[in-house]
Amino acid sequence: MDISFKQMQESAAFIQSAGIDKPQVGIILGTGLGGLIKDITIQKEIDYADIPHFPVSTVESHKGKLIYGELAGKSVLAMSGRFHYYEGYSMQQITLPVRVMKLLGVQNLLISNAAGAVNLRYKKGTLMLLDDHINLLPENPLTGKNIDELGPRFPDMSQPFNKQLNELMLAAAKEEAVVLHQGVYASVPGPNLETRAEYRYIKSIGSDAVGMSTVPEVIVANHMGLPCIAVSVLTDECDPDNLHPVSLQEILDVAASAEKGLIKLFKRLVAQL
Ligand code: HPA
Repeated sequence: MDISFKQMQESAAFIQSAGIDKPQVGIILGTGLGGLIKDITIQKEIDYADIPHFPVSTVESHKGKLIYGELAGKSVLAMSGRFHYYEGYSMQQITLPVRVMKLLGVQNLLISNAAGAVNLRYKKGTLMLLDDHINLLPENPLTGKNIDELGPRFPDMSQPFNKQLNELMLAAAKEEAVVLHQGVYASVPGPNLETRAEYRYIKSIGSDAVGMSTVPEVIVANHMGLPCIAVSVLTDECDPDNLHPVSLQEILDVAASAEKGLIKLFKRLVAQL
């Protein structure tokens, strides 16, 4: 489903009219990583269902609302619940909130997700800062007529994650004594986890982690010149030679156990923006 620039402006205007004024930082909270919301001094919440053109989140483990408030001295707009390709949404729907954030004035975008570790030196329960990505999704949010108001037809992707923000994140990790690996994230459509042969393949093409989100949002952020960073919580170790079945509950449990560290890093980064 295509979403026009006019529709994006309508979504933004609705959010603005609800009292959300010039958020500085956008935050997307990944699977099992909603705990950061407790640290936000909430000024306004809006259900996705109430926002014109917004899709409604279907996965039970994701709550679908925008949360506006203050975090570490900055005004933030956080997505509690994001949209995934496996839920059946179009790439335009998945990325609409990021485009709307930019229209609202957001200056930096912080993304989190849960991912499997294909780099076996990275243990489950640790964090990985995305240094680059590989798009293995079958569609791209920029397909179709370019929306010139947002960005160029052929956006550069030589540095998809903002270098300065990543350096701040690495420094924050040092100061907080939180293990923060760096690596390449590959995005797959899901919803099934990967086979042993697929993990082997994903590793062989240069990935350190694999997950079912983030890359569409990063592509549109780059298209619009919106600086972004992303951190994966590594929830399972994807060793093709010793692969154990993994349940959603295990993924959620590991994500929850690593959440504290992630929150510390996000708060420290937001304070410095
Ligand atoms: N594969 C894809 N997505 C994931 C994984 C995985 O192993 N773990 C958490 N999200």
